[in-house]
Amino acid sequence: MRNNPKILIAYYSWSGNTRALAGRIAARTGGDLFEIIPARAYPSNYQACTSQAKREIQDGLRPDITGSVPHAERYDLVFVGTPNWWSTMAPPVATFLQRHTFSPGATVIPFCTHGGGGRARIFSDMGHLAPHVHSGGLAVYGSGSGDTEQEVADWLDRLGIL
Ligand SMILES: Cc1cc2nc3c(=O)[nH]c(=O)nc-3n(C[C@H](O)[C@H](O)[C@H](O)COP(=O)(O)O)c2cc1C
Repeated sequence: MRNNPKILIAYYSWSGNTRALAGRIAARTGGDLFEIIPARAYPSNYQACTSQAKREIQDGLRPDITGSVPHAERYDLVFVGTPNWWSTMAPPVATFLQRHTFSPGATVIPFCTHGGGGRARIFSDMGHLAPHVHSGGLAVYGSGSGDTEQEVADWLDRLGIL
């Protein structure tokens, strides 16, 4: 690992919680933020969104996403964030991981937000799509609490990578 690692924070967020968490990680690390945007937005209605997501996850669908990270191979640390969708990552995040080739020495550090189900299978599922997924990912309930900023700071300290 270089002294001054190059850091990317890539995330998908449907209702804003994971976006807020990604923003905190970016503020703390000075990394580059990349929002994963599905080519076709998910329905804004919760019920419609959960049924579509369930179908896509059951079928192993990888929905198209817009844009990609330029020169993804230059990053040493790649934080990848997702909401918990049916106990795994949101499908656009799977597409993102499948489409990017990071440096052989890069580490993927997962994070997620959830509605009570925690990290579930998210981080292990990411391990099937990317090499070197760090085992110490962060799971935050909903939009976090007043302590989330400290929790993020402590987590980054614990990882010992900065
Ligand atoms: C399609 C869908 C499926 C979800 N499935 C789960 C789940 O299985 N377990 C859970 O704890 N929360 C689940 N949730 C709740 C979200 O994980 C939670 O609200 C998360 O913080 C949303 O992140 P976001 O605001 O970045 O989209 C689901 C939400 C949606 C929209």
